[in-house]
Amino acid sequence: MRRAAVLVLLLVACAAARAAAAAVTVTDGLLPNGNFEEGPAKSELVNGTVVRGAKAIPRWETSGFVEYIESGHKQGDMLLVVPQGAHAVRLGNEASIRQQLAVTRGAYYAITFSAARTCAQGERLNVSVSPEWGVLPMQTIYGSSGWDSYAWAFKAKLDEVALVIHNPGVEEDPACGPLIDGVAIRTLYPPTLAKGNMLKNGGFEEGPYFLPNASWGVLVPPNIEDDHSPLPAWMIMSSKAVKYIDSAHFAVPQGTRAVELVGGKESALVQEVRTVPGWTYRLSFSIGDSADGCVGPMVAEAYAARASVKVPYESKGTGGYKRAVLDFAAISNRTRVVFQSTFYHMKSDGTLCGPVVDDASLVGLRKKLAGRRLLL
Ligand SMILES: *[C@@H]1O[C@H](CO)[C@@H](O)[C@H](O)[C@H]1NC(C)=O
Ligand SMILES: *[C@@H]1O[C@H](CO)[C@@H](O)[C@H](O)[C@H]1NC(C)=O
Ligand SMILES: *[C@@H]1O[C@H](CO)[C@@H](O)[C@H](O)[C@H]1NC(C)=O
Ligand SMILES: *[C@@H]1O[C@H](CO)[C@@H](O)[C@H](O)[C@H]1NC(C)=O
Repeated sequence: MRRAAVLVLLLVACAAARAAAAAVTVTDGLLPNGNFEEGPAKSELVNGTVVRGAKAIPRWETSGFVEYIESGHKQGDMLLVVPQGAHAVRLGNEASIRQQLAVTRGAYYAITFSAARTCAQGERLNVSVSPEWGVLPMQTIYGSSGWDSYAWAFKAKLDEVALVIHNPGVEEDPACGPLIDGVAIRTLYPPTLAKGNMLKNGGFEEGPYFLPNASWGVLVPPNIEDDHSPLPAWMIMSSKAVKYIDSAHFAVPQGTRAVELVGGKESALVQEVRTVPGWTYRLSFSIGDSADGCVGPMVAEAYAARASVKVPYESKGTGGYKRAVLDFAAISNRTRVVFQSTFYHMKSDGTLCGPVVDDASLVGLRKKLAGRRLLL
C-alpha cells in the first residue's frame, strides 16, 4: 500500500515537472503560437477543419469541438477574414483552448485576444486563470471588420498558471461559436503616483497589449466585483466596455495611449482617490476624438463629489482635443472621479465610437486665500 502511494506521488511529481518544463516564461507580446499560425497536421483535421486530439495545435491544449480556420474559409455567405496572420480557431459548444504560462507569482498581467462572433447572438467567452475567471459578453459588435480585441487581467497566484478560453455556449449548430485569434499577454506594473497628480495612470499609458494588426483598439469590459483591471488604477463601471486606443492606429491627445468612451452613459471610467473632506480639488483632463471618423457634436462628462461638468466637443473625426477642468469640494475621505460620454455615437459603418479622454490630473487647491487659489 505504502509503496503504491509513494509511486503515485513520484508519478505526480514527474508529471508536474514535465508540465513545468512545457510552460514558457511569458514575455510581453503574443503567446507561443498565440496567432495559431502553427497548425495541426492534415491527419489531425476531420472534415477539413475539425481538430482531432487535444494536442493537435502546437503549444495549445484543446477540448470539445474546436475548428482550425484558414483565412478565406466560407461559412454560408460569410467569408472569414483573420486579423493575425492567416489562421484562427473557432470554439464550438463548450469548447476551450488552454496554454500553460510560467509567470511571476504575485504579479499582475493583462491578456489581450481578438474574437469574432459567428452565427449566434449573445455569444460569451469565459476567460480564466485559476482561480480567477471572467465572462466576457460579445453581444455588441464594436468593430466593423467583425473582429474585436478584448482585455482581461489577473494576478498570478502561482509560478505556473493555465490560461483557458472557454465558450460556455450551447447552440444547435456545433459549428457556431466565436473565432479566436492573436492571444497575447502583458505584465502590468502597479501604477505609482507621479509628482503633482493625485490620480494614478492619469495618462492611461499603463494597460493591456495592443496586437500589431488590430486597428480597432482593445475593449476593456466592465469590472466584475473584486476583479483586476487591465487599466491599472481605473475601473470600468456600469454595463458597457470602453475602448483602449494607441497612437499607432488612432489620434491620442498625449503620450501613446488613451481611452475612447464608446459606451455612452452605460459605461463609466472611474478612479477613487483619497481626499480631505472640505478641501477643494481641481480635476484637469483632455477631451478629443481619435481620428477614426467619429463625427458630430459630443459631450463628455466628469463627476467628483457633488460637482460635475459637461464638456462639449465638436468632432470632425480627424483628431484634436481640448482641455477641461472640474473643481470640487471633497465630502468624504475617498472621492470617485468619473468620466462618461453623454451620448452614444456611431460611425457610418455602424461601429460604436465616442469622445476620447486622456491626460487626467488631480491637484488639491487650498480654500480661497486672499482672493486667489494656491496650489498645495
Ligand atoms: C464530418 O462530416 C460528416 C458529414 O457531414 C458528419 O456526419 C460528421 O459528424 C463530421 N465529423 C465531425 C468530427 O464533425
Ligand atoms: C499584419 O498585416 C500585414 C499586412 O496585411 C501582414 O503583412 C503582416 O504579416 C500582419 N502581421 C501579423 C502579425 O499578422
Ligand atoms: C468560468 O470558468 C471557470 C474556470 O474554469 C469556472 O470555475 C467558472 O465556473 C466558469 N464560469 C462560468 C459562468 O461558466
Ligand atoms: C474616513 O474618515 C472617517 C471619519 O473621520 C474615519 O472614521 C475613517 O477611518 C476614514 N477612512 C479612511 C479610509 O481613512
